[in-house]
Amino acid sequence: MKILVIQGPNLNLLGHRDPRIYGPLTLDQIHDNMRAFASQNNTTLEFFQSNFEGEMIDKLQECVGGEFDGVLINPAAYAHTSIALADAIMACGVPVVEVHISNIFAREDYRHKSYTGAVCAGVITGFGAYGYHVGLISLGQIISEVRAFKEQNQAQQQ
Ligand code: DQA
Repeated sequence: MKILVIQGPNLNLLGHRDPRIYGPLTLDQIHDNMRAFASQNNTTLEFFQSNFEGEMIDKLQECVGGEFDGVLINPAAYAHTSIALADAIMACGVPVVEVHISNIFAREDYRHKSYTGAVCAGVITGFGAYGYHVGLISLGQIISEVRAFKEQNQAQQQ
């Protein structure tokens, strides 16, 4: 299984940025933990962080007919603003799971809506950095179910 992990704006500052909200780990430390977890579960990860909406969209478009089986995304503040990113998620052709480190529903009103989360397979929010592990487990399950469904359909057509 190959999973693309996309991290949105300001997440490169994790470890320094509001540690009471986002915890003490840096993005590199989170990614190291995810890599260790993925290697035990027969999964390869590619990491991409950007502060630019268009770059995140370009990266999502690489999934169309590409090598990735699914995407784990923390769109950060773009979750609350970006219809373009939501469109790219819908168009990318693979399952996408959204993660937020903090509980977006327990924060300011403008964080309660996620345009991107509304078009993802599911949203994990409020479990700190552990949410990325929950995201990997959930996405792995969804990818396996999609595969099994496709194989069953192919077998029925033969
Ligand atoms: C965040 C939540 C967003 O509201 C915020 O803009 C972020 C981080 C999270 O992981 O909790 O940058 O996505």
